[in-house]
Amino acid sequence: MAWQHILQALWLFLPAFVANMSPVFVAKLLPWWKAPIDGGRIHKDGKRVLGPGKTWRGLVGGGFSGGLTAVAMGHFATGIFAGWDFGMQGYCLESAGGAGPRGDIAVGCDAVVAAWWAVFLFGFIVGFLALVGDAVKSYFKRRRGKERGAPWFPFDQLDFVVFGLIGYLIAAPLLPADWVWAHLTDHWLILTTIVAGTPALHLMVNRIGYWLKLKEVPW
Ligand code: CTP
Ligand code: MG
Repeated sequence: MAWQHILQALWLFLPAFVANMSPVFVAKLLPWWKAPIDGGRIHKDGKRVLGPGKTWRGLVGGGFSGGLTAVAMGHFATGIFAGWDFGMQGYCLESAGGAGPRGDIAVGCDAVVAAWWAVFLFGFIVGFLALVGDAVKSYFKRRRGKERGAPWFPFDQLDFVVFGLIGYLIAAPLLPADWVWAHLTDHWLILTTIVAGTPALHLMVNRIGYWLKLKEVPW
């Protein structure tokens, strides 16, 4: 059913969503660590390379929150998310009789289980890259003369998606063979939800963050 694939897509991409939302929280947690990635450098157009809003703290915090999210998900994946656990509870290798959660196939399957540290590292890479995407976006945003915090639709919303997905592919070897690819391509709605559903979700979450006074602007 469609709603199940949409939920699974949001679940699969949760480490990237959490990482993308983490900088405002990490900023409150470690207010003294605000070294900007661009080191304060000015581009030849007279504007900052990235701006004061893009910090090392944001990148590292994104990595940690992505890693912690992935490990937590690996532990709590049940129900319609059974098997969507980054392989932490066991995954059947396709070559040995079918891909899927270990429980699905009683016989004829080579079950492989991902170690928690591998899942953490996987989520760390995804979260870190999601925030690299956010910083790359800011580079182009500054070149267009847009100040820190100014809205730039849909790039503000999609910046972490492209790099987050690249993270899934780069870090895939940390998980059981084929796990990432099999789940990204499980149904056409998975990737569609991640790419097309994210801007809508992002705008909604930012508005809530604004109401909660976590964010200074509602976008
Ligand atoms: N943040 C951070 N380090 C990062 C990314 C974000 O410390 N690498 C914090 C900053 O305090 C930033 C806030 O999270 O202001 C919100 O992030 P974001 O909306 O991505 O940055 P903007 O301030 O809107 O900057 P830009 O216009 O470049 O997107
Ligand atoms: Mg912004």
